Amino acid sequence: MCRSEVECRDDIDSFAPGLFALFESLKLSEEHKSRQKQLVDSLAKSVGKEWHGARLHLYGSCANSFGTAHSDVDVCLEMEIGTESTVEVLLKLSDVLRADNFENVEAITGARVPIVRMSDPRSGFSCDICINNLLAVANTKLLKDYAHLDQRLLQLAFLVKHWAKQRSVNETYRGTLSSYAYVLMRINFLQLREPKILASLQAMEPTYTLTTDSTECAYSDKVDQLQDFGAQNKDSIAELLWGFFQYWIPPRLQARRHLHSHGEDTKDSNNSTYSYNFLCDFMVNSKQEKNWTTRVGNDRHLVCIEDPFETGHDLGRVVDRQTIRILREEFKRAAAVLQYDDDPCVTLFEPYDYEN
Ligand code: GTP
Ligand code: MG
Repeated sequence: MCRSEVECRDDIDSFAPGLFALFESLKLSEEHKSRQKQLVDSLAKSVGKEWHGARLHLYGSCANSFGTAHSDVDVCLEMEIGTESTVEVLLKLSDVLRADNFENVEAITGARVPIVRMSDPRSGFSCDICINNLLAVANTKLLKDYAHLDQRLLQLAFLVKHWAKQRSVNETYRGTLSSYAYVLMRINFLQLREPKILASLQAMEPTYTLTTDSTECAYSDKVDQLQDFGAQNKDSIAELLWGFFQYWIPPRLQARRHLHSHGEDTKDSNNSTYSYNFLCDFMVNSKQEKNWTTRVGNDRHLVCIEDPFETGHDLGRVVDRQTIRILREEFKRAAAVLQYDDDPCVTLFEPYDYEN
């Protein structure tokens, strides 16, 4: 049954088998996983020659359960770097990888998290390598633990990720949202269903803690004890998918316009002003306390998605006035397709690029 302010179509559950089949087709094959392992093994060999004590951690979607055939492989090297800077280590790593026949090796040192990007001709994967970014290792474990709580998170995740790629709204460098931000939105949505589908692991007694440079990552990772948590909620994947898109668009956002009228505003087609807020359950402090209501430098905070551990970090900061409209239109389209289209399992995922 739908519990949003807007009712979904009566026959929504008839689309669940088609969506489930699509989900199954997007899951990674065993062959894909073994090629990933091959890449990690040859990388470990190269790194081990130069840095004996280095530990390799897989992070991102290749380790958090949300990976698809298009995902890259993200690797974090945990190592003592002594007096060298991270950038120096990355430059040295680039040389080591080139010598070992990895291709397109490029050190991206100006990024918020500096990395070496390369591709591996043997496995066919592209790979990002960072140094000592244990925060990402911790949030990878958090997402993986959430994925164990209820199968519907994975199903929703794969379908929304496929939709976001097909509709070109999963590209941070163009001002739309990262895969990581979308996962947080989906977790938040399932935590707010009635009855709830996901518990809030960060709100429970911590059983996992990891302290990085300045951030404490703490939550309950006893997910085996929470297996029945969402059992009372019988929503099908079709209903949840529709609910996800419906949740983030007006009238919900219009209703919030008055609550956050002092945020950076934008004009709609009637020339009225409003702010968008993808407020996460992870929000521990209000937008005001974080100073996310005004523009500071390039940070606009038109869409606010709080990182679960680094709570001062807004994953929506990349969104600008143009791309917030694109996101809004795409969310509206998706909800309308699921509501009215005769063949939503096809129409929803039709490729589109707003720049062409
Ligand atoms: P794909 O699109 O399948 O590659 O998804 P992904 O989750 O691997 O995305 P991406 O490669 O962009 O990011 C890799 C990982 O880096 C994420 O899963 C997070 O663990 C971490 N990450 C990405 N962006 C942020 C961020 O803004 N803040 C923090 N704390 N971690 C991030
Ligand atoms: Mg990735």
